[in-house]
Amino acid sequence: MAKSERAKSVYRCQACGFESPKWLGRCPDCGQWNSLAEELEAPKPALSKRASSVFSAPEPLSQVQGMDGGRTSTGIPEFDRVLGGGLVAGSVVLVGGDPGIGKSTILLQAASKMPGMTLYVSAEESSFQIKTRADRLGIYQDSIMVLPEISLEHVLMEAKRSNPLALVIDSIQTVFTEELGSAPGSVGQVRESAAKLMRFAKSTGTPVFIVGHVTKEGTIAGPRVLEHIVDTVLYFEGQRGHSFRVLRAVKNRFGSTNEIGVFEMTDSGLNEIANPSELFLSERPLNVSGSVVAACMEGTRPLLVELQALVTPVTFSVSRRSSLGLDSQRVNLILAVLEKVAGVHLAATDVFLNVVGGLKLEEPAADLAIAAAVVSSLREKPVPSDTFIFGETGLSGEVRSVNHAEARVREASKIGLKNAVIPWGNCAKLKDKSCGLRITGVRNIDEAIEALFA
Ligand code: TYD
Ligand code: MG
Repeated sequence: MAKSERAKSVYRCQACGFESPKWLGRCPDCGQWNSLAEELEAPKPALSKRASSVFSAPEPLSQVQGMDGGRTSTGIPEFDRVLGGGLVAGSVVLVGGDPGIGKSTILLQAASKMPGMTLYVSAEESSFQIKTRADRLGIYQDSIMVLPEISLEHVLMEAKRSNPLALVIDSIQTVFTEELGSAPGSVGQVRESAAKLMRFAKSTGTPVFIVGHVTKEGTIAGPRVLEHIVDTVLYFEGQRGHSFRVLRAVKNRFGSTNEIGVFEMTDSGLNEIANPSELFLSERPLNVSGSVVAACMEGTRPLLVELQALVTPVTFSVSRRSSLGLDSQRVNLILAVLEKVAGVHLAATDVFLNVVGGLKLEEPAADLAIAAAVVSSLREKPVPSDTFIFGETGLSGEVRSVNHAEARVREASKIGLKNAVIPWGNCAKLKDKSCGLRITGVRNIDEAIEALFA
């Protein structure tokens, strides 16, 4: 399209909002480098010409029409769970994640199971590539219409014509709107395209999935710039070399956040894992020092995972602390508490921690398990393999109660664990809900060490 036909655009600083008619390397207002992104200039509303009936009138909250309960299932229960119970009409769902993690795979699998036609817009792969993936997944349904197209205007025209049950845009970084002159993948293009898709979803009631690659820079033109526009943000996580994938809701206007779905990438696509605890503990070495079972929560779901520590004599002059899947600040804090309060000497050691299965544990409830794994490895004393641990530790070594204690205990009892070391505060409230487990309540880190290693 010739430049003169395009809508007028401006360059706006993403940091301070400064507006410029041309691109500048540095914002003259706030001094940030490379912060100006192209945007469509908002049309000035001609207020005087608007008929008064166009304006919305306020109405009592009780009379506002709610959602008519209709959620469409994606056909994948773990996916539905993360969405808050299925797909809401007119919602825009961003599926973000590293390239190659499985975003296209899960959306193709969902498309094949949805009860209606899905328009799958492939802006980065050819129809042939989609077909190859579908063959691998054993998907032959004609209910998936593949559209290899990068122009958003054409996509929306086709979507309005064919009226699909759901629209998939794979990916937002490769489609572009002809109204902006900038290249696909730039901040302006990504935001304007998403805003157009949002308007399409709201006006037609069609749910839209947007795939967004997490870019190397993390924030620039990646899914983060869209988080405030869309209704639901899901991130697909997993570590390279691990087959586990976790689909996590970080924002959801129609459900709870922090809900997760667990999948395994196999040769024939993603398989749901209905009982992740069992799987995460399945290859655990029994009665080995440094390995403990932590009972954690992911949203409303209890999850038992193996936490491993390796404490070795220091190899360089400075001791090393390295942790995978844990917040390193939190680990340092717990090591300091162990040193100072419990008299566990770690100054001349290197400490390595790992959450097995490539999971991330960011809950403070994992504190006590971290401490136990470190002490177990240092003293070369195993924690019995039928024991699980949870509890938050404070700076003076006290062990604080955590939420959802009952759910954690129930999950552990389900997979056959027998002993628990948990905060005293939680223990007192559990009483008759101990599910036949032997539960030891501890008030501080010393009591926990005593209970586990005496
Ligand atoms: P893909 O869905 O293309 O990732 P994304 O869209 O997030 O970039 O998944 C690509 C990876 O998944 C690729 O490395 C191959 C692997 N894979 C399997 O292991 N099994 C399968 O059945 C499929 C379809 C892909
Ligand atoms: Mg892809």
